Amino acid sequence: DWTMASYRDEAIANIRETVGDAKVICGLSGGVDSSVAAVLIHEAIGDQLTCVFVDHGLLRLNEAEEVTRMFGDHYNIPLIHADESELFLGALEGVSDPEEKRKTIGRLFIDVFQKHADTIEGAQFLAQGTLYPDVIESVSFSGGPSVTIKSHHNVGGLPEKMGLKLVEPLRALFKDEVRALGHELGLPDSFIGRHPFPGPGLAIRCPGEITREKLEILRKADAVYIDQIRKHGLYDEIWQAFVAILPVRTVGVMGDGRTYDFACALRAVTSVDGMTADYYQFSHDFLGETATRIINEVRGINRVTYDITSKPPGTIEWE
Ligand code: XMP
Repeated sequence: DWTMASYRDEAIANIRETVGDAKVICGLSGGVDSSVAAVLIHEAIGDQLTCVFVDHGLLRLNEAEEVTRMFGDHYNIPLIHADESELFLGALEGVSDPEEKRKTIGRLFIDVFQKHADTIEGAQFLAQGTLYPDVIESVSFSGGPSVTIKSHHNVGGLPEKMGLKLVEPLRALFKDEVRALGHELGLPDSFIGRHPFPGPGLAIRCPGEITREKLEILRKADAVYIDQIRKHGLYDEIWQAFVAILPVRTVGVMGDGRTYDFACALRAVTSVDGMTADYYQFSHDFLGETATRIINEVRGINRVTYDITSKPPGTIEWE
């Protein structure tokens, strides 16, 4: 793709000029955006780049291992794997307000980056995979009044005291363009095709108070759901699919016993850029089979619902 090839070359030249001899640290989430940003910057400045992968305890099943394997082994990009789940989950204890959750997570991310930046001599820049829609949505929504819908944790610049400058080489791009750029940079298709995963992770798929128990249940249910979607060959038709665990227990019956467990909601949408989205029209057979599997395989869930809200008026994530 000629356009993306020239975009890549231009971006690489810009990064070199901006960064000079300094060191850059890049927050890696395991998602497509930060991965493409990291590989692009690595092409530009080689091992002046160090990636920091913060495990905030809000990742999907096996995600930490997959990311460290992909970057450490495959790309050989210097990678710090920061297991900070105790820090994040501790700070989120008792927090149920969505914006407070996002702000807490954003603040801790910065603390953790700062801590690691301090260990890298000459670190002057922090790289992020911020996209154009992230920039707009934090400011206004669909041309409407200028209200904050959600505080995306990776937007808004850095506190001055952090002393790092931002490098955001994807800031002008939409998601489909980032995927084309990733392709141009030689990332594997299986990776480029991954559904987006938000920085605040499972926190915003767990409305209300986050507990370790709920996270554990959510991870298992999500893995079953995604497995179903892959088995039915639907993964690439869907922009994003995930489970949200609801802050409510409901009564059910299993065998000849009463259950009193959590309800969950399945979410799946199609979209071009995440700004607007339509709910995905699964067959009832698929939904029924998936509900049965989740209830049979995941202890702690006894009711499954399907979210048929498009965006707007809903947002893709639940918080
Ligand atoms: P919403 O829920 O706002 O999501 O309709 C639109 C897209 O953005 C993702 N998202 C985020 N990504 N940091 C991110 O990196 C965030 O704080 C964040 N919040 C939402 C969401 O997963 C969807 O793809």
